[in-house]
Amino acid sequence: MDNYDDSLPSSSPASWSPSSPPTTPEISDDGFDIERLPSLFESRAGNAETAGSNGRELLSPQHVSNGSPTFVLVIGGLGYIGSHTVLELLRASQNVIIVDNLSNSYESVLDSIKLLTANHCKVEGIPVPLIHFHRLDYRSRSMRFLLESYTDLVMTIDAGGQQNMTYRSRIESVIHFAAYKSVVDSLKHPLRYYQNNVCGLVSLLQQLDKYGIHNFIFSSSATVYGTKSNSGRPLQEEDVVHHAEEHVDLAGTSSVLQPSAVGLSCPYARTKYFSEAILADVAATNAAWRIVALRYFNPVGCDPSGLLGENPRGEATNLYPVLTQVLAGVRKSLDVFGTDWATPDGTAIRDFIHVLDVARGHMAAMAWNAARGDGFRAFNLGSGSGTSVLEAVRSLEAAAGRSIPLTWSGRRPGDVGVCVASTERAQNELGWSPHESVAQCAADLWNFVKRRMARDGTSGSALQELASLRVNVKLDRFGLASARHNRAACILGPFFQFLEDEGRKVLAAEILAWIDRYHSS
Ligand SMILES: NC(=O)c1ccc[n+]([C@@H]2O[C@H](COP(=O)([O-])OP(=O)(O)OC[C@H]3O[C@@H](n4cnc5c(N)ncnc54)[C@H](O)[C@@H]3O)[C@@H](O)[C@H]2O)c1
Repeated sequence: MDNYDDSLPSSSPASWSPSSPPTTPEISDDGFDIERLPSLFESRAGNAETAGSNGRELLSPQHVSNGSPTFVLVIGGLGYIGSHTVLELLRASQNVIIVDNLSNSYESVLDSIKLLTANHCKVEGIPVPLIHFHRLDYRSRSMRFLLESYTDLVMTIDAGGQQNMTYRSRIESVIHFAAYKSVVDSLKHPLRYYQNNVCGLVSLLQQLDKYGIHNFIFSSSATVYGTKSNSGRPLQEEDVVHHAEEHVDLAGTSSVLQPSAVGLSCPYARTKYFSEAILADVAATNAAWRIVALRYFNPVGCDPSGLLGENPRGEATNLYPVLTQVLAGVRKSLDVFGTDWATPDGTAIRDFIHVLDVARGHMAAMAWNAARGDGFRAFNLGSGSGTSVLEAVRSLEAAAGRSIPLTWSGRRPGDVGVCVASTERAQNELGWSPHESVAQCAADLWNFVKRRMARDGTSGSALQELASLRVNVKLDRFGLASARHNRAACILGPFFQFLEDEGRKVLAAEILAWIDRYHSS
């Protein structure tokens, strides 16, 4: 449950990736190239392959309808869970449109997705699906043009022989990941959270409705259960409903469940609860909508290739990213909050689920929605079994072959001792069940961390290392102390990291060449 993980404070300032705190950008169309969008009335056959934006390469379509490729729109698709889900979609030959403003991710994730997809398709001997990326804030006005550009105008003839022109979108489903997700940050900046997570959702739904796109998967969270997590049993979807509904329990007793929210501890949790409630209301008033809310518990791990993983722009707060920072030497130790819970080892118990299982859960939800979806339905995505914080630490220690220093701290307000999902509904209705173990999560995560450490060193990127080396050479030449070198490297390092993350490697290389010329002159 992310309301636990996100609230793990750092023991030292993070510097794993450029470590500015999570920023909340203004709504902007920066980087969005309207000229490159597919045009509204492009012919169906043939020219859809030219529909890429921002100069991304275009590949042969798999999913087609009446000669045009159809897409899944993934909003927030370069983030941690989004990128793994996009990869899963592409591996299943779905064409994908990614919208992301990179507020908490990097464009380099797209390269990894393309590489892994190309590899998969080569091995399987299948054509590579379309991948369109739009760097865009989903709340911006450009979203309308984007949706329009994937829409055909079709003529229909009604029973009275009257000709009507209607929109038909080539976007078959939307998966909406984009949101701010830090519990701590949401306590400091509640309006930013309501703006992005709730207001953004409302306008998105209006736009989608206009273009006739009604299959919608929403990233919800176990945080909606609030203090119901303390009930001492696995959490069931029935524990939080948005409209009164009849429920028959295992003993055959029927009751009417009433909508309620109990103990939502922070604005982030409320954004998820409100979003679900809005989605349930929308679905109740317009039968066209098929909406699934997936309540994730604690997604961890990454693609076994080690090429994709959790790499937030802001300070890492979830348990496993913090653990990996400790392993990489970026943090001194992990703070463990609460050692006196009523659990076997005294530390809190959570439901960790491999991100690949979460990604597969989206595939199952999308298929279910298209075939049987009706109105609004929530599903838990958890492993169904609890792992204590200490067990999680031990699993990563075993995978890494290193010990992880711990700092024992007291409980924090709002934490719960045990939070585990019931996976029954997802198993019965979606036909989905988790496959990966916590040990597998740890092994895959360590693979990702190892790759990054090998590539970047523990403290930054290759360019950052290079920059610091060159500054060193320069300062040596002028006989300056290493303390100054460190200071200069501290300033230049993040600058080069920034250029690299923004895909400006050529510019970075030019600046380094200029430094070289300056030294030798
Ligand atoms: N990771 C978890 O532990 C967890 C648990 C429960 C629920 N969730 C929910 O799942 C979703 C995805 O989580 P994640 O861990 O992948 O987060 P993430 O921050 O890694 O991914 C979110 C992505 O959305 C993008 N984004 C944010 N606001 C945007 C905007 N206005 N326009 C366009 N793009 C925007 C970010 O740049 C990022 O790439 C979120 O809604 C989160 O609340 C996550």
